[in-house]
Amino acid sequence: MASYDVIIIGSGPGGYVSAIRCAQLGLKVACVEGRETLGGTCLNVGCIPSKALLHATEMLHEAQHNFSEMGLKGKTQSVDWKQMLAYKDKTIGQNTSGIEFLFKKNKVDWLKGWGSIPEAGKVKVGDDVHEAKHIVIATGSESSSLPGVEVDEKTVVTSTGALELGKIPKSLVVIGAGVIGLELGSVYARLGAEVTVIEFLDAITPGQDGEVAKTFQRMLKKQGLKFVMGAAVQGATVKSGKATVTYKLRKDDSEASLPADTVLVATGRKPYTDGLGLEALGVEMSERGQIKTDAHYATNIKGIYAIGDAIAGPMLAHKAEDEGMAVAEGIAGQKPHVNYGVIPGVIYTHPEVSSVGETEESLKEQGRAYKVGKFSFMGNGRAKANFAGDGFVKILADKTTDRILGAHIIGPMAGDLIHEICVAMEFGAAAEDIARTCHAHPTYSEAVREAALACGDGSIHM
Ligand code: NAI
Repeated sequence: MASYDVIIIGSGPGGYVSAIRCAQLGLKVACVEGRETLGGTCLNVGCIPSKALLHATEMLHEAQHNFSEMGLKGKTQSVDWKQMLAYKDKTIGQNTSGIEFLFKKNKVDWLKGWGSIPEAGKVKVGDDVHEAKHIVIATGSESSSLPGVEVDEKTVVTSTGALELGKIPKSLVVIGAGVIGLELGSVYARLGAEVTVIEFLDAITPGQDGEVAKTFQRMLKKQGLKFVMGAAVQGATVKSGKATVTYKLRKDDSEASLPADTVLVATGRKPYTDGLGLEALGVEMSERGQIKTDAHYATNIKGIYAIGDAIAGPMLAHKAEDEGMAVAEGIAGQKPHVNYGVIPGVIYTHPEVSSVGETEESLKEQGRAYKVGKFSFMGNGRAKANFAGDGFVKILADKTTDRILGAHIIGPMAGDLIHEICVAMEFGAAAEDIARTCHAHPTYSEAVREAALACGDGSIHM
């Protein structure tokens, strides 16, 4: 048995970042992880492996579609699926061992095994019970199930199974046009699968700025993805390794079905808190299974905190990381703050889609007066040279004060470009502040400046 200032349960982006921050602040800290490797869902079966497959298949697309125009010969690329998966696994390994190195460097103890909390101040891992003044639950989330659809991770898969399919399916039905469905749907469409996405709502990516969602869907259709919108999936059956997905159209209640080699269930995730013993402890939970916390991530039980996907808010690795740092700093006596109004969201498709802050829809709902500054990547020299002219930057600013309220980007490197606007928003900047900042030419970032200019007297290149 060992005694710690802080024990963190879970080593995903929330947990491992929190552990490192605790150590940096002079606290004696341990992190409990039952997987073979550190990093949680994100590094092992989520963000990182999916980005490896997205990158590989984007290269394939580039080779198939744009190489010849650039004078590059030998454009026919064939796919060695086993090698592609090996590259993905190598990427995972580099990242998970990187966390192990950081733990050693910062003197964070890794308690190997699944943790539970027998009582406040104690964490049980295997047969050992450790003491901790503070316990942080960072156990993340798991795929939520869909009635009538049984996941076997072979024919009917979640994102986990979709990252290690035995072979590339000829046909893939994706249930849910959210982030996971569209990222992984794109991967398999580029690998030659016929991909059909079935979505309950009438628009893809719920919560997204409407104009961006429409443009995004048009681009995905151009890439070969098919959509069945306004359809509720009723069930999936598997016979001799082939699946049939049945759905009901909301507009007229008519039923239809689709055959598929593989079905990806991507209808959301739910907090993962099984086996922690929270019920016996009396930790308050919401109706959605999230651990209830106050503004300092404290639960109703003294000394027990929770962060990341296990609590309320967007299920994003970087949101968990920020909360992980904040909870550590709070325990160390500092006064941290997470600005939930400036948390970017990125969809890593090709092109990428990113957003921060308000959408036009949310501003209208609040009855706020705003202006829109928009700039198309068609007017950006760098984008044109790189076959990336499709898409735009859109900045929403307060009509009177010019303060930036939100931004939405669909286009090349959108996931990186958004951070200029995040920093500006964090500093309470006006669109004019970005417009008056010199941006290097030729860069994609110029499109952000041009959108900011469009909030004022007008963009130059449009
Ligand atoms: P999601 O919540 O983003 O999307 C689920 C979609 O499924 C919704 O559009 C919903 O209307 C639809 N749906 C639900 N039930 C249905 C039914 N019976 N029939 C048809 N459609 C149905 O969930 P997703 O994509 O599974 O992602 C889970 C979480 O992981 C999200 O919070 C997401 O933000 C996060 N994530 C983030 C990534 C990123 O930041 N790039 C990457 C992957 C996941």
